[in-house]
Amino acid sequence: MYICLNIPMSKIIITYSDSCLKQAADRISKQMDIPSIDARTPQLINAVEADYSLQLSANGLSFVSSKKNHGAIRCDFVSGSHRHRRNHGGGKGQMIAKAVGVSGKFYPNVLDLTAGLGSDGFVLASLGCNLSLLERNPIVYQLLNHGLEKAREAALDDIELAEIIQRMTLIQTNSLDYLNTVSEDNFPDVIYIDPMFPPRKKSAQVKKEMQALHQIVGADEDASEVLEKALNKAIYRVVVKRPSHSDYLGMIKPSYSLEGKSTRYDIFAKQKIPK
Ligand SMILES: C[S@@+](CC[C@H](N)C(=O)[O-])C[C@H]1O[C@@H](n2cnc3c(N)ncnc32)[C@H](O)[C@@H]1O
Repeated sequence: MYICLNIPMSKIIITYSDSCLKQAADRISKQMDIPSIDARTPQLINAVEADYSLQLSANGLSFVSSKKNHGAIRCDFVSGSHRHRRNHGGGKGQMIAKAVGVSGKFYPNVLDLTAGLGSDGFVLASLGCNLSLLERNPIVYQLLNHGLEKAREAALDDIELAEIIQRMTLIQTNSLDYLNTVSEDNFPDVIYIDPMFPPRKKSAQVKKEMQALHQIVGADEDASEVLEKALNKAIYRVVVKRPSHSDYLGMIKPSYSLEGKSTRYDIFAKQKIPK
């Protein structure tokens, strides 16, 4: 049922670096129907000739290409760029905040139909929004789920992080199926869509992760169908994130756009945001 467009599941294994991680690795192995192997047994790993591995270690869960098609991908809300953006990110002045309509008085419930590694979701949750995050790709889902678990552990010593993570709920599903189940009495305030787009050749370091993600997920061919359906399911607005200067998704003209250097937000307004 879950689509993993670019990589056959038969090419993936999960490894664990320590016996205390075996149980967690076995759980992922069962959910994804892939072999779970002790990382300290290279002969067993070599024997299965996997092209990709999910690697579970004390540092978290990473997705690694044995052919080095891309760098390791992981989801880390505790340190690095997420921590930096949480502390110095520009708050409600950020374009994403304006696009979604966050203000000092209004903190929308956001349904993120394309969760990915949860970066945008984390920013919105940091700003006070409640997020439901939908992800259909099983690899991306596992990375994000683990990133949230690690953040929950770290949050025992960090009240602010605890509050942010509490606002984020991840669901493994196809958004098109999910939207069919959303009835008028539980419409979200805002729907957010950030579909995969073809990676551009000239990209900064930060975009490398997105290129690797593209190899796992492929192009989100059904993105315009997702938008069409979403337009009937939000109370205040639907927001689509696009590369600057790209066509409108599905050629559907938004009410207005916020244009940045590399990113554009197309806003489909349904009702005025409460002041
Ligand atoms: C460009 S990434 C999103 C990145 C995300 N905004 C972030 O900040 O990390 C797009 C993601 O949406 C997921 N996706 C696309 N269409 C989907 C659908 N119909 N249902 C669920 N997930 C979907 C893809 O699997 C991919 O992981």
